[in-house]
Amino acid sequence: MCGIVGYIGENQAAPILLDGLSKLEYRGYDSAGVAVYDGEKIQMVKATGRLKVLEELTQDGAVLPGTSGIGHTRWATHGSPSDANAHPHFNKDQSIVVVHNGIIENYVKLKKKMESRGYQFVSETDTEVIAHMLDYYYNGNPLDTIVKIMHRVEGSYALGILFRDHPDEVYAVRKDSPLIVGAGKEGNFIASDVPAVLKYTRDVYFMENEEIVKLTRDSLTFYNIDEEELEKRPTHIDWDINAAEKGGYEHFMLKEMHEQPGAVSDTLNPRLKENDIVIEELGMTDEEIRSIRKIYIVACGSAYHTGVTAKYVYEGMARIPVEVDLASEFRYRNPIFEDNTLVIIVSQSGETADTLAALREAKAKGVRTLGIVNVVGSSIAREADNVMYTWAGPEIAVATTKAYSTQLIAHYLLAMKFGKVRGTLSDAEFQGMLEDLKQIPEQISLLLSHKENVQRFANRYLAAEHVFFIGRGIDYAISMEGSLKLKEISYIHSEAYAAGELKHGTISLIEEGRLVVAVLTQPSLYKKTLSNVQEVKTRGAFVMAVTNAGNTEVEKVADYVIYLPETNHYFTNSLAIIPLQLFGYYVSIGKGLDVDKPRNLAKSVTVE
Ligand code: AGP
Repeated sequence: MCGIVGYIGENQAAPILLDGLSKLEYRGYDSAGVAVYDGEKIQMVKATGRLKVLEELTQDGAVLPGTSGIGHTRWATHGSPSDANAHPHFNKDQSIVVVHNGIIENYVKLKKKMESRGYQFVSETDTEVIAHMLDYYYNGNPLDTIVKIMHRVEGSYALGILFRDHPDEVYAVRKDSPLIVGAGKEGNFIASDVPAVLKYTRDVYFMENEEIVKLTRDSLTFYNIDEEELEKRPTHIDWDINAAEKGGYEHFMLKEMHEQPGAVSDTLNPRLKENDIVIEELGMTDEEIRSIRKIYIVACGSAYHTGVTAKYVYEGMARIPVEVDLASEFRYRNPIFEDNTLVIIVSQSGETADTLAALREAKAKGVRTLGIVNVVGSSIAREADNVMYTWAGPEIAVATTKAYSTQLIAHYLLAMKFGKVRGTLSDAEFQGMLEDLKQIPEQISLLLSHKENVQRFANRYLAAEHVFFIGRGIDYAISMEGSLKLKEISYIHSEAYAAGELKHGTISLIEEGRLVVAVLTQPSLYKKTLSNVQEVKTRGAFVMAVTNAGNTEVEKVADYVIYLPETNHYFTNSLAIIPLQLFGYYVSIGKGLDVDKPRNLAKSVTVE
């Protein structure tokens, strides 16, 4: 995610802004910038690259005199990393400047309206719309102007704003994206996260949605959207810096698991328009969608596992044959393509060597390619014919969680769109699925709230040597990801098995006390898998079952049951994976392992 800082006080602002941004580097970014009021005008410096570039350009802030300013580290969502797309963004006469963290979901419509009013845009960002709207609605009263924007902008935002003719004030406003206010002895601060201000103060105010704050050198005034003053109480932070970067969570993986509801919403909501799905970046007409004869999904690791799930979803919803390939295999097997094939390349980093090579192999054969990628401007994002971004924000933990969850959402949206256009989904089915999709973020939150139960169960298996995950259909795909999560962060051998395959070999490995995790979310396969659970149970296995709420008969055979909230059977992976992520996480930390940086692993495998 982007990082925002702001300061107004007795001291030079630029060095404080640069220091604050350096404490937000963990959030991931591709460019940075600062703007400072120098007593007459607002000066700005911004550049692509690491903070070091900005520090050199500003001589650690020395070339930007002034005691009030705002700063930003950009994690690109709209528009690739570039100097022009970096924040802050000016209005046309440079009397207003803004930094933004979040996604303006209706920026295309707003941009068109501002262009019709004669505004010219110099960047590809959604944020620049805000700068021009502040200019258009500005009536000399910053608070009034900000409220006008709030009523017109849809999406998530944390904004830091300077108005040149209000030099003794800094403004900020929050909706959905995090924002804190720091009250210091030598000035006041805004920031996306606590680490940016801890060096100066431990007394912070957590902004709530649709709250506005006006900072002066020695005062803080909070308002609601009706411009009424609010009383807010500060929180005294006793975290150390390291804990603060994780938002108070012990590890990045735990933090990122808890970011899944927001990441799923950010990936979903901008593509839901008036009870329909609009995927502007797909680059395919309805005719072209109807002409698709085959889909390949190509990826590595967890991204590949989303493809295994998605095969059932595309084939079920859109009746398009799907082949799922490991990129490291696909790139060398000289694949044979028929006409009207779509190759979907899935990658969080957008830099995985095997996946990039697979993309190039498909393009070399003239096949249409679509990327599902999290890092904006990454190699796969740039080289695929079209790219559909997952807006999970930067993922720091090596074991993917929120990126995986948003990749699933991208697949669901595509499959539903294809099914609707090709007429294989009725309108009633489509609308029902839309309603189920919208519930997923909240349902993930609910499952995360039971994490202590999973932790208690996990602590019984710290000494396990072999664990089996079984399921059928989509449940088999979920088992693959659950097994990888456990393996890669706890170093316990585990294996995902199609439950129907047990009798063809694996069941010989089941012995007294062997843990078997059974996933039973598919109604049409439930009874079959239940009988597989009985098979392993009679051979001494200890069974953890993940199933839909109401399937209480599972308790007759399983030793520990996790129930999932009701959702469409195509979407159950998004819920079932939560307890399995938590299980792997708690086994790993129970063994005292480095859960965020497991041995031998890299976050992005950019070599073969
Ligand atoms: C999953 O937890 C791993 N981090 C790994 O399997 C990862 O999914 C795989 O390396 C693919 O990475 P990518 O999505 O960045 O291409």
